[in-house]
Amino acid sequence: MSRFTRVLAVLYETLRLFPTVTYIPKVAAQDTTLTVRNVDGGETTFPVPSGTEINIHVPGLHYNPRYWKEPHKFIPDRFLGDWPKDAFIPFGQGARACLGKRFFEIEGIAVLTMLVSRYKIEVKEEPAFALETFEERYARITAFNQGLTTSSLRVPLVFKRR
Ligand code: HEM
Repeated sequence: MSRFTRVLAVLYETLRLFPTVTYIPKVAAQDTTLTVRNVDGGETTFPVPSGTEINIHVPGLHYNPRYWKEPHKFIPDRFLGDWPKDAFIPFGQGARACLGKRFFEIEGIAVLTMLVSRYKIEVKEEPAFALETFEERYARITAFNQGLTTSSLRVPLVFKRR
């Protein structure tokens, strides 16, 4: 499994652009502070009293150009070299991060590898969309509902046996 680095990179890049969990609610267990970096490079420290509710906005971090070059582009290779681990939180982070992360990674690698090795996957050609640009097609195929979780609107793909 550890040799399927490119397949995992594709799964990670998908989770970066379309994180399944879009915000992670937390409650401060004790009085603390939170320091954020401002656009001008300075820092602001906020008091966070015990009991404060904080929602971590996952896409806000995953699309932040401070950490990701061309954040709106699907570039799996960005996960092959050195990448900003703390700016990628589809499974949360820290002591209460997702218990099933490795389970998902193994299963995801197995499913995706078997699918692409057995099927050629193409976008369905539909006369109504014959004149669309690449960008329009990308937006149509990746359109999703964003609630607590992300769900695709429509997946117009055709699987052809290899
Ligand atoms: C793409 C797949 C998955 C994603 C994106 C995902 C994401 C998450 C996120 C964001 C959290 C909350 C972390 C936090 O509160 O900081 C979480 C928690 C959790 N996940 Fe997942 N998860 C996935 C798959 C799974 C699977 C396959 C399992 C079980 C086999 C699982 C079991 C859990 C459990 C038990 C927790 C609670 C951990 C705790 O509170 O200590 N997850 N997951």
